Amino acid sequence: MSTSAVNIRSAIAATNTQVEARAALDERYRVPCTEPEQWNPTLSVLLGHRSVRAFLPRSVEPWALQAAIAAAQSASSSLNLQLWSVVAVEDPARKARLCLGVADQRWIREAPLYLIWSADLSRHRRVAERISAHGDNLDPDNLDPLATALVDVSLAAQNAAVAFESLGLGLCYIGAVRLYQQELRDELALPSHVVPIFGMCVGYPDPDRPTGVKPRLPQDAVLHKERYDAAADAALIESYDARMADFQGKQRLKQVVWSDYSLRRLFNLHTRDGREAYNAALRNLSLAR
Ligand SMILES: Cc1cc2nc3c(=O)[nH]c(=O)nc-3n(C[C@H](O)[C@H](O)[C@H](O)COP(=O)(O)O)c2cc1C
Repeated sequence: MSTSAVNIRSAIAATNTQVEARAALDERYRVPCTEPEQWNPTLSVLLGHRSVRAFLPRSVEPWALQAAIAAAQSASSSLNLQLWSVVAVEDPARKARLCLGVADQRWIREAPLYLIWSADLSRHRRVAERISAHGDNLDPDNLDPLATALVDVSLAAQNAAVAFESLGLGLCYIGAVRLYQQELRDELALPSHVVPIFGMCVGYPDPDRPTGVKPRLPQDAVLHKERYDAAADAALIESYDARMADFQGKQRLKQVVWSDYSLRRLFNLHTRDGREAYNAALRNLSLAR
C-alpha cells in the first residue's frame, strides 16, 4: 500500500475515533462536549455503561465469569487485604428465592447469573483463630475494617462489571440484598463476618429490549479544581433535572424530578425491617468476636 493510502486510512481511523468519542461524551452528558484529543476502546466501554434489566436466555460462559473475577481481583485493595467474597448463583430455583423483597425485579430471575458481593472479614478471622492471635484484641468500635471492606468489595465488583461489559454482557446491581442479611446467610451458607453488600444480575442483553445511557450530572457539579466550589450547584442541578426528564420521556420511564426523587430516596433509605440486621452486621464487621 502506498504511503498516501496508509495516511488516508489512518486519518479516517482517527476521525472515526473522534466521532465515537464525541458521541460517547454527548450521550453521557446530553450536552455538546469538547472533543478529547485521545480516545480508546476502554473509554468506550466505560462511557457506554447502562444497567441492563432484560436478558437473553443464554448462559454466561465459565470463561467469562473467570475473566470477570480475575478483573475483580486485579482491583486495588487497601493493604492488599482483599476483604471481599462473591457467591455466583445460577440455579433458577435459588435465584427465584433470592428475589427477596424485590420480587418485582424480574431481571434477577431472568439473568442467567446472579452474583452476591460481600464484605468479608471472616477469612482474616479464621487466620486469627488458626494462629490464635489478635482476634480478641481488636476494637469493635473501630469502623476502619468496615470502611476498608466496603471500598474493597466495591472496587472489585466494578472491575468485574467493566470486564463483563467489555465482553458484550450486561449487568444490573441490586442493592436490596443489604436488608435481607439473615435470608442470604441461610440461602448461601454465609459464615459470620460475611456481609452481603449488593447483588449483580449478569447476562447477555436482549437487543429487543434495549436500555439507553443514563445522563449524569455535569462534570462541573462533581469535579472541583484545587478547591471545593458549589456556587453553581443550583443551576447545574436544575439543568440536570431537565435532561433527566427528557431521558425518562424518551425511555418511556416514569417521570420523576431527579433532585426530588433522590432526596426522598436518600431520607427513606433503609426504612424496611431489615435495617437493624444490616446495621448490626456492619457493626460486627471487625475481627472482634
Ligand atoms: C449499589 C447499587 C445498588 C443498586 N440497586 C439496584 C436495584 O436494586 N435495582 C435496580 O434495578 N437497579 C439498581 N441499581 C442500578 C442503579 O439504579 C443505576 O446504576 C442508576 O440508576 C444509574 O443508571 P445506569 O447504571 O443505567 O447508568 C443499583 C446500583 C448500585 C450502584
